[in-house]
Amino acid sequence: AQTLKSAAASKGKYVGTITDPAYINGSDRTYNTIALNEFNYVSAENSMKWDAIEPSNGGFSWNNADTVVNWAQQNNMKIRGHTLVWHSQLPSWVANGSWSKSTLTTVIQNHVRTVMTRYKGKIAQWDVVNEIFDESGGARSSVFSRVFGGLDEFVTIAFNAARAADPSAILCINDYNLDYSGGKATGMVNLVKRLKANGVPIDCIGSQAHLMVGQVSSSFSSTLSSLCSAAGKCAITELDIRAKTPISSSGLSQQQTDYTTAVRACVNLSNCLGVTVWGITDSRSWIPQVFSGEGAALPWDGSYNKKPAYSGIIAGFGGS
Ligand code: G3I
Repeated sequence: AQTLKSAAASKGKYVGTITDPAYINGSDRTYNTIALNEFNYVSAENSMKWDAIEPSNGGFSWNNADTVVNWAQQNNMKIRGHTLVWHSQLPSWVANGSWSKSTLTTVIQNHVRTVMTRYKGKIAQWDVVNEIFDESGGARSSVFSRVFGGLDEFVTIAFNAARAADPSAILCINDYNLDYSGGKATGMVNLVKRLKANGVPIDCIGSQAHLMVGQVSSSFSSTLSSLCSAAGKCAITELDIRAKTPISSSGLSQQQTDYTTAVRACVNLSNCLGVTVWGITDSRSWIPQVFSGEGAALPWDGSYNKKPAYSGIIAGFGGS
């Protein structure tokens, strides 16, 4: 029978989901079964973030990330490493340290080198930096942008350290609200072009694609194309399409259409690597905790029934 991964493979793309030890070893076996049957790429939802993996300076905590990597390898799933340098889920020793450029450079280099070296050859893509832009395309305020006085310097440091640690990994810069033409997407394109012209080893732009039902921009596809051109490769890295809950039947059908639109935008680009969906079931999505009254964003409902969105993804990959 057709699955998401067979449909994706027919177009030379992958389709990914997220997991963590709570899913791999928890009592909810259905989540794990669907992950294995339907998907061929995986990101750790939380286990590879800086607070999880290096909670104190030089003190690394590998158990959860190891669990995800071992599970993926045993099941022939490729891995997107998420994420090395991010202002959020950043331990307070980094966020609140009193750094000079030189000491923070060492901290970034040590984190990137140590994590990537442990999983060298096992992680196909890394989100080397995540969510560094504000909505206008300028530098988001973070310990990194403050200490270095902008983005270029710390992004360069992180990508150079990443390339040196695992030359075979595809290195990505990842962000959200790159779903339409505008200041943020333009800021991303300009930064990537500028740094690549200076030899910084950025291979790929990740567009998270946290979308809203009925509001997928008419410029979604052309914007993804411009990201792909700027970096050489791109990927949709965290796709979900949320609605006001409870979602109506017309909402479900619009969501199906919207999933097709998003997936097809990647399929139509030869250098779009694939699509990761940020979860499986509506009952385990991050959205209701962050957007009150919204959710229902994923292809399976809270009881693991396939929603029309599932068929929408299949259709986006050219299946029926
Ligand atoms: O680990 C603690 C636990 O000790 C504590 O008891 C519990 C109580 O709230 O919280 C746990 O931390 C939670 C963490 O997930 C791990 O489960 C945080 O509260 C919760 O906020 C955190 O949410 C994650 C969120 O990133 C944090 O920024 C979501 O699961 C995860 O799906 C979400 O993923 C992000 C991507 O990494 C980047 N792009 C946006 C996307 C959605 O926000």
